[in-house]
Formats: sequence, structure tokens, C-alpha cells
Amino acid sequence: MKKVLIVFGTRPEAIKMAPVVKAFQNESSTFDTKVCVTAQHREMLDQVLELFEIKPDFDLDIMKSGQDLYDITSRILLNIRDVLIEFEPDIVLVHGDTTTTMATSLASFYHINSSGSRVLVGHVEAGLRTHNIYSPWPEEANRQITGILANYHFAPTDISKNNLLQEGKDKNSIIVTGNTVIDALYLALNKIKNSKELEDRIVKRLKTKLQKNAFKQSENAYQNSQFSIINSKFILVTGHRRENFGEGFLNICEALKEIALENSDIDIIYPVHLNPNVQKPVYELLSEVKNIHLIEPLQYEEFIYLMDKSYFIITDSGGVQEEAPSLGKPVLVMRDTTERPEALKAGTVKLVGTDINKIVKYSQLLLNNKEEYELMSKAHNPYGDGKAAQKIKDFLKLKVEN
Ligand code: UD1
Ligand code: UDP
Repeated sequence: MKKVLIVFGTRPEAIKMAPVVKAFQNESSTFDTKVCVTAQHREMLDQVLELFEIKPDFDLDIMKSGQDLYDITSRILLNIRDVLIEFEPDIVLVHGDTTTTMATSLASFYHINSSGSRVLVGHVEAGLRTHNIYSPWPEEANRQITGILANYHFAPTDISKNNLLQEGKDKNSIIVTGNTVIDALYLALNKIKNSKELEDRIVKRLKTKLQKNAFKQSENAYQNSQFSIINSKFILVTGHRRENFGEGFLNICEALKEIALENSDIDIIYPVHLNPNVQKPVYELLSEVKNIHLIEPLQYEEFIYLMDKSYFIITDSGGVQEEAPSLGKPVLVMRDTTERPEALKAGTVKLVGTDINKIVKYSQLLLNNKEEYELMSKAHNPYGDGKAAQKIKDFLKLKVEN
């Protein structure tokens, strides 16, 4: 029996690791699996844990409001040491590019079990690269550091596998699995599509959230919030990248305001990330715009439902860039670079940075030019077939049995 510790800390890691947790828990004759959350996020993490019914065995509970990178790194390094000493895992699985990922990989590299054996690190969503450590910051560096420390690399696509081979990683340590975000997406979509009762509940929750917020905004906005989620034409927005703080977010807000004012017949729905560096400019600058609906971060199923009903998406999120192509939704990405070139190549994703003119110009194009819209809204699945978690589990099972 091999001991596996699955570690994550933020909302997207939790969404993308939930299918992995389930796959390993279902293989209890081979793996003794435990879950450790760093809780780099708190409320946004707990929303996902609750939805996927995951009860962590260890909770480091490190989040502080307005935390910086030193806070997160040092608190994880010091706190996870005790977990490694207590559980003595054979394998630690981490995900993606967060500071939780990087610090956990480093702690696992430092740790030696009482038997003298080393802890092997498996990196889920490995090999994505922009080759610019300042974009996205600090995620590109987090991913490269984790890649150096990892023993197994679960690459979502051939492009990410090639990045790893070019860095000299052993080809037997890499497997292309697809991205586990597609496993989670299909799980959520199937649940919603096969249950009218669940769909009704989601719509009701969304309506309440939109109305509650609109009421806080103004009487006008409250009237406007009576729009039907199912029949309205709306743009869905998310944003949280550290490199966009300050001027970047001021530009994003300015652009959204311009789009909203020029198109009074459309709505913009924006679930605002809880980071104070995001909340402050967004609520200060956009609260009073009547067709912009600022709401709290949504539960994953609610968000997927809205993505599916949206006209197009404006975001700087990594995960959303991966989910949208499967739903056939055009995405304008508010970043200068992306480590996810697959959808960019297929033409369904466009990089617009945080340039006001570009965000407005491409939004107007999607709203007014049917041909351009059709070109960008072709459904395709560059990020996997929904079986990534299974492939990760099967690969490690084979490794430990040989
Ligand atoms: C982190 C990751 C980023 C990932 C993102 C996903 C790092 C350095 N950044 O960025 O790669 O794309 O998560 O969303 O690892 N907060 C709450 N409650 C929550 C979550 C956040 O109040 O549930 C607030 C807190 O004030 C917290 C702040 O947001 O201090 C920032 O959280 P943090 O994890 O440091 O940064 P993110 O921007 O969320
Ligand atoms: N998401 C969510 N609720 C929201 C906004 C996003 O559940 O209100 C999901 C989204 O579907 C995707 C993930 O969160 O799976 C993306 O998280 P985020 O953008 O915070 O992080 P990133 O992917 O950029 O690391």
C-alpha cells in the first residue's frame, strides 16, 4: 500500500484536483490517500470542498487577508513539515502554478521519511510555459520550480509535454493526460443537464444573488436585474492576476464601463474575486453602472451554468480559458502572454492585455460582427476528454506495482 498526499490551497486547484482525489480514493486497495489543504484561499476553497464533498485530513488554514508571497510561502513551508512528519507519504501530488504548489513541492523535496526514503512529487498540469518568469507572475516561476522538483509530470497536452522534454526531463516521467479541469467541467455539466431540479435551484440562487447586489447598487439597477438569465445576452467577466493590480485593473474597469455604456441592451455579470486589490477598484469604479452586475464569487456549478449561457467571456483566468472552448464560448484574455496556446491557435481565444482600446474594440467586434463571433465560438476540446484523473491514477498504479 502506497501513501499518497494530495495537496492544494486555492479555488482552481481544488476544482482541478477534486477528480484526482475521487480517482485515488476509489483505488483504496493500492493507495492510502489523504488530502491536505493549505487554505491559501478560505471561502473560495471551502465552496469547492463542499460541492465535491471533500473532507480534508489536514487543514493548514494559512490564509490572511491581503497576504503577500512571503506570507504564503513561509507559512506553508513551516506548517506542512508537521504533516509530512506525521503521514510520511510516499507520493505527494500537487497541481499547477500557485505558491501552494511551489512551497509544497519544496517541502516534499526537503523531507526524508523515517525509513530513509524520499518523497516523490507528482505534478498535475505540468509543462505549461510562457518562458517569461514575470508573466504570469509569480505563476510561471512557480511552475518551473515545481517542474525541477517533481518526479512525475502529468502534462495536459502534447505542447506541454514537449516543453518538458525540451527542458531535459526523462520521457518516462511524463504522461499526457488531458487537463483534469475538463473532468470537473463534464461532471458539473452532466449533473446540471440531467437534473431539471438542480438547474432550477442554480437559476434561483443566481437570481437572488443578482438581485441582492443590484438592490445595493441602486433602484435602477434593481429594476434591471429582473432580466432573465436564460434569455439575456450577457458578457461574463472574471479577473484577479497580480500583475494586473493597480493600473491594469483601472484599465479593465474603464473598458467594462465603456462597453456597458455603449451597449445598454446587454448585461455584464462579474463575480468579483475576494482579493482586496481586486474588490476595491472594481466596486469603486463599477458599482453604479446599471447594466454591470457585481456579485460575490460563485459556486462552481453556478459559474459553469453562467458560462454556458453567456454570449462571450472576458477574463484573465487560466482555468476559464481552458473551460470555455469546450462550451464553444469566445474568450478575450486580459493578459499579454498565455501558457495555454492551444485555444489561441484554434482562434477561440484572443489576447487583449489590459489595454482599454483593445478590450473595447474586440468586445464590440464580437457584439456586432456575426461572422467574427461564429469564428470564435467553435466548440473544441484541446484540453482533454474528461478522463485525466483516471490516467494519472493508472500511471502511478503501474509505477508503484513495478
Ligand atoms: C492565487 C494564486 C493564483 C491563482 C489564484 C486563483 C498565488 C501566488 N496566486 O491568487 O495563481 O490563479 O489564486 O484564484 O499562488 N481572499 C479571501 N478569501 C478567499 C480567497 C482569497 O478573502 O477565499 C483574499 C484574501 O485577502 C487573500 C487575497 O484574496 O489574502 C489573495 O489571495 P492569494 O491566494 O494570495 O492570491 P490570489 O490572487 O487569489
Ligand atoms: N470559478 C468559480 N466561480 C467563480 C469564478 C470562477 O467556480 O465565481 C471557477 C472557474 O470555472 C474555473 C476556476 O474557478 O474553474 C478559475 O479560477 P481562477 O480564475 O480564480 O484561477 P486561475 O484559473 O486563473 O488560476
